Amino acid sequence: MEGKRWFLVGMLIALLASTSCGRELKIREYGDEGDDRSLVYNHTLAMTLVEYASAVYVSDMTELFTWTCSRCNGLTKGFQVVELIFDVQHCLEAYVGVAQDLNAIVIAFRGTQEHRHVSSIYWLSVFVSFCKLLDERLCVLFNFVGELDPCSLQNWISDLFWKQLDLDYPGMPDAMVHHGFYSAYHNTTIRSGILNAIKKAKQYYGKLDIMLTGHSMGGAIAAFCALDLVVNCEAENVQLMTFGQPRVGNAVFATYYKELVPNAIRVVNERDIVPHLPPYYSIFPTKTYHHFSREVWLYNLGLGSLVYTVEKVCDDSGEDPTCSRSVLWTSISDHLSYYGVDLCGDVDLSCGIVMAPALKEFSTTDLKGNFVLSRVPASSILKMKTEETVTRNHSL
Ligand SMILES: *[C@@H]1O[C@H](CO)[C@@H](O)[C@H](O)[C@H]1NC(C)=O
Ligand SMILES: *[C@@H]1O[C@H](CO)[C@@H](O)[C@H](O)[C@H]1NC(C)=O
Repeated sequence: MEGKRWFLVGMLIALLASTSCGRELKIREYGDEGDDRSLVYNHTLAMTLVEYASAVYVSDMTELFTWTCSRCNGLTKGFQVVELIFDVQHCLEAYVGVAQDLNAIVIAFRGTQEHRHVSSIYWLSVFVSFCKLLDERLCVLFNFVGELDPCSLQNWISDLFWKQLDLDYPGMPDAMVHHGFYSAYHNTTIRSGILNAIKKAKQYYGKLDIMLTGHSMGGAIAAFCALDLVVNCEAENVQLMTFGQPRVGNAVFATYYKELVPNAIRVVNERDIVPHLPPYYSIFPTKTYHHFSREVWLYNLGLGSLVYTVEKVCDDSGEDPTCSRSVLWTSISDHLSYYGVDLCGDVDLSCGIVMAPALKEFSTTDLKGNFVLSRVPASSILKMKTEETVTRNHSL
């Protein structure tokens, strides 16, 4: 393994020296087990899905609904939003649409965005004192305190340290999950909105694959949605690709997950702190959170100005010790950009959204203020001026 890595480094240095251009070169590394891991991970698809995961952070509903936002312009061009679901009560957002080039319904979930405030440094320091008793590796997770975090995730991240496995996943003996992530999908307006939109898209377009994506907490919600579609809706060809997703359940849950959603990829960027949370205690293998497979770990190799990204397809245990778990220092900034694509809000609106009055005709609002923007697939939407007027701050 080590030998192979250094061989690759040598090859690359030779290659870069001969071409002498500073551009980023991507290589992949597979393990020695002989299974063809190249079949499970598709780089082009990852580049596309990360753009979908990024677009859901756009706060201008009009641009998002009409797919005219600046983040909607690259590999996702031509995407048709069918439904945009906004659970104002819980500050959750997702969209469902059809990507004809992928022949798929794409569903993306937004991660968390919160107000800036002082992070719970006190609790973190208390935790640091205790964690040495449990698992040395955890103690060094804490260097993120004080790091610049334009998305103000500190509180959310420090809360993640304390999450308990507190819910039995229905119908799966011994599988336990985190109640909060589970409920964010199952016990809000998100689930019904999504099922409804899938039905609508299928009625119009016929058979389509389903691809789910999300960043951070959005990845955790996407994971529960993918499982739900397989288990309760008999969906076929469900693919999940998440970016910087936290752990959501225990080892038994991970085993079910691998069986039921075999096309699941969790991309982890470098030293991103969030996939390390809630913590994995290797000394309590049956009691701890445990990632489902399969991780793809992105890390940089190189010297000086010659830095290249390795995309390592990890083993199918979910907790490959040679992948992101091998890092000692974690970082928030590695959480905020994947493949060079920004993954946080475009403006500091917290839970706010911006919506032009012209969108009202597409929207349905419930008594609690949660709403859905919805349209007949493939129908044209009037060109709407986004600047006109804005309805601001559906803040919580
Ligand atoms: C990877 O995904 C792209 C779509 O993004 C697809 O066109 C291509 O055929 C896929 N490659 C493989 C090897 O499956
Ligand atoms: C769903 O939410 C309701 C009301 O907020 C609550 O009473 C119920 O316990 C929740 N169910 C789950 C599984 O979280």
